Amino acid sequence: MQEFWNFFNQKASSLLQRETSFRKMFEYLDQIQGSVIIVETGCVRNRDPWAMTGEGHSTLLFDHYINCRKDGSKAFTVDINPQAVEVCRSLVSSEVTVHEGDSVAYLNSLTKQLLGIGRHISLLYLDSYDVDYNYWYPSAAHHLKELTAAWRAIDSKTLVVVDDCPMSANLVAGADGQFQLDRFYKPIVGGKGRLVAEFAEEVEARMVFSHYQHAWNGFQG
Ligand SMILES: C[S@@+](CC[C@H](N)C(=O)[O-])C[C@H]1O[C@@H](n2cnc3c(N)ncnc32)[C@H](O)[C@@H]1O
Repeated sequence: MQEFWNFFNQKASSLLQRETSFRKMFEYLDQIQGSVIIVETGCVRNRDPWAMTGEGHSTLLFDHYINCRKDGSKAFTVDINPQAVEVCRSLVSSEVTVHEGDSVAYLNSLTKQLLGIGRHISLLYLDSYDVDYNYWYPSAAHHLKELTAAWRAIDSKTLVVVDDCPMSANLVAGADGQFQLDRFYKPIVGGKGRLVAEFAEEVEARMVFSHYQHAWNGFQG
C-alpha cells in the first residue's frame, strides 16, 4: 500500500481537516486480508475535489484506497441529491458504485446483495443528513436508521464510522467567571453520531477512536 500512503502523506494529509481519523481508518483496513468492502452514505459533493471547504473528501479517499489495493476491493456510496451524485460520478473510478436515492432504503437492498455473495462490510462510513448541532435529533436518528438498515452485513470486524460528531458537554461558569465542565454531566458523543453512540454503548461495541469523527467495531459478537 506504499502508493496509497505516499498519496495520503504527501498530498491528502495537508488538505484534510479529518486527517487523524482517516489515517486510522486506512490503517484499520490495511490489517484486513483480502479485498475490502467500503460502504458510505453521503458522497463527495464539491466539484473542486480538494478545495478547503470543510468537507471530508471521503469518496475520493476511498476510491484511491481501493484502487491502490489492486485486489478487487469495492466501494459503494449513496446520496439523495442528484447534483452530488453527478459530481461524485465525475470524480471517482468505476470501482465505486454511486447510487442516487435515500440511504436507508439503499443500505437495506445493498445489504441483501452483499449477503447473497457472502460478504460483510469492512468499513461503514455514515455521513449523510447534515446535522444542526442545536437540533441534532433528526440527523442522529437518520444515522441510527442507517446502522439498522446495514445491520445484517455488519460483523464483529466491521468498522462503523460516523462523521460530524464531536463530543458535547455542558459548561458552567464558576465564581471567577471561568467556564468549567458541569461535573454532573459527562461529555458525550454529539452531532450525527449521538444515537449510534448510545446504541454502541448499550450493546458493548468497542470505541476504536474518538475525534471529530467516532468509530466502533464489535457490534456483532
Ligand atoms: C456532508 S455531505 C457528504 C460529504 C462527503 N461524505 C464528503 O466527505 O465529502 C452529506 C450528503 O448527504 C446527503 N444526504 C442527506 N440526506 C440523505 C439521505 N436521506 N439519503 C442519502 N443521502 C442524503 C446530502 O445530499 C449531502 O450530499
